[in-house]
Amino acid sequence: MSTLTSSPAWQALEAHRDAIAATRVDSLFAQDPGRGPALTVACAGLTVDLSKQRLTGETLRLLVALARERDVPGAVERLFTGQPVNNTEGRAALHTALRGDERVTAGGEDVLAHVQRCRERMRSFATAVRDGSWKGATGQPVRHVLALGIGGSYLGPKLAVEALAPLADGPPVRFVANVDPAALDDALAGLDPATTLVVVASKTFTTQETLANALAARDWIVAALGEEAVARHFVAATARAGEAERFGIPACNVFPFADWVGGRFSVWSSVGLPVAIALGMPAFERFLAGAHAVDLEFRSAPPERNAPLLVALAGLWNRDFLGLAVHAVLPYAQRLSSLPGYLQQLEMESLGKAVAADGAAVGVPTCPALFGEAGTLGQHAFYQWLHQGADGAACDFVVVARAMGSREAAHEALLANALAQSEALMTGRSTGDPHRDCPGDRPSTTIVLPALEPAALGALVALYEHKVYAQAVLWGLNAFDQFGVELGKAIAGRILPAFAGDDAALHPATRHLLGLLRRAGPSR
Ligand code: F6P
Repeated sequence: MSTLTSSPAWQALEAHRDAIAATRVDSLFAQDPGRGPALTVACAGLTVDLSKQRLTGETLRLLVALARERDVPGAVERLFTGQPVNNTEGRAALHTALRGDERVTAGGEDVLAHVQRCRERMRSFATAVRDGSWKGATGQPVRHVLALGIGGSYLGPKLAVEALAPLADGPPVRFVANVDPAALDDALAGLDPATTLVVVASKTFTTQETLANALAARDWIVAALGEEAVARHFVAATARAGEAERFGIPACNVFPFADWVGGRFSVWSSVGLPVAIALGMPAFERFLAGAHAVDLEFRSAPPERNAPLLVALAGLWNRDFLGLAVHAVLPYAQRLSSLPGYLQQLEMESLGKAVAADGAAVGVPTCPALFGEAGTLGQHAFYQWLHQGADGAACDFVVVARAMGSREAAHEALLANALAQSEALMTGRSTGDPHRDCPGDRPSTTIVLPALEPAALGALVALYEHKVYAQAVLWGLNAFDQFGVELGKAIAGRILPAFAGDDAALHPATRHLLGLLRRAGPSR
């Protein structure tokens, strides 16, 4: 038994879980008409309804006791004050400083001053691109932005640009992440090198996919405009300015961010440059402000009303006490269709670990598999599995109160579907026909955004960021490293040369597959 599971709070939760095992959520609503409001918390303009979770007020009280036992409040202070919460890499994780105004130092450096300097540079560049005063090599203004990056250097800006598309009045942005050459080919189609600005976002500036795309885009620019054009058409967002300069991007075109910004927490940094260019710096700053408002609540709200913490606790309850290994994120907003992908990296790269920060096994299941799709598209794909599959999942419904398109009636149809699905998952159906019966009692949270605008989006993303941090503390994990992704990268590095040469050193299984590819593809 691990120290986590042998703790008094954990033991109390196990006993409580067994005591309420036969209680259905539906019946809790019947017993307590005030359940909806009682289990709903406000957070920086968002509203989080936990009343369809399979828990009671007593469950929450016991979960909060666990949070106290695991010293989540102390860990939150360590996060905000720049302590080395990323213990395996010995550094702070200060993404909150990118959107806050509190004084904080990291490694003796005044973080606030650094952040403000970086943001001012972003502001003047984004403004120059938008107003046309930044000219390309032929003297023409920028008409398109090609944003290259992957993982955290891609998912956040893409989510924001898509979600806030109606505010976009700057040059349109095309995002390319995949090393598959088709991705860049498709993005370049119809673009004119003379009016295209390439933003290369990479914390390390060594990521294979991003560098391959950046080199290909560079060739495309140079072939049309000559070598000198690189300085007018390429900028970088990176924590490794030297690497970007070695690539050929002049120092004045490098928008830095600090090492203490984790890749999947970096949309608030210069990685957000495509957002600032597309929407304007004021909108980007409202996005930051929405996140900062959640930071303030996460840092100061009592655990019983602390939305990110309660969402984290409900997730842990579902995973470890109810045994749900899958988490579905269901945004009822077409413009949030990239949210599940964004959260997949945020949650699964941060929490997809079974070894605690001190090197010991956690001893209980951690991060569930996360997937999702915009409602109502998912309803016609995988909801059958949600309703009648053998496993069940915990669901997050993300809904937006104000209509996002021109037709109010269609928006009401969208909302009706969201409400119907969360009700159906809870109530289930008993018909006497086993094929038609739905077990119900499948837990969900509903998060309401008043409108799909920058502050609400910032708040939503920050809510999930802090949920992840709180869960990491509860499980004892370091949320900020990702050593698991390195193995595949290293093996790919060994395999690539074998395409052109000797494959004798490859693993026999890989040699076998490479042989299949050689026979199937004439070029190999
Ligand atoms: O997937 C591994 C990872 O290191 C992510 O954590 C990161 O967001 C992504 O690669 C891209 O890294 P970089 O910004 O350094 O190119």
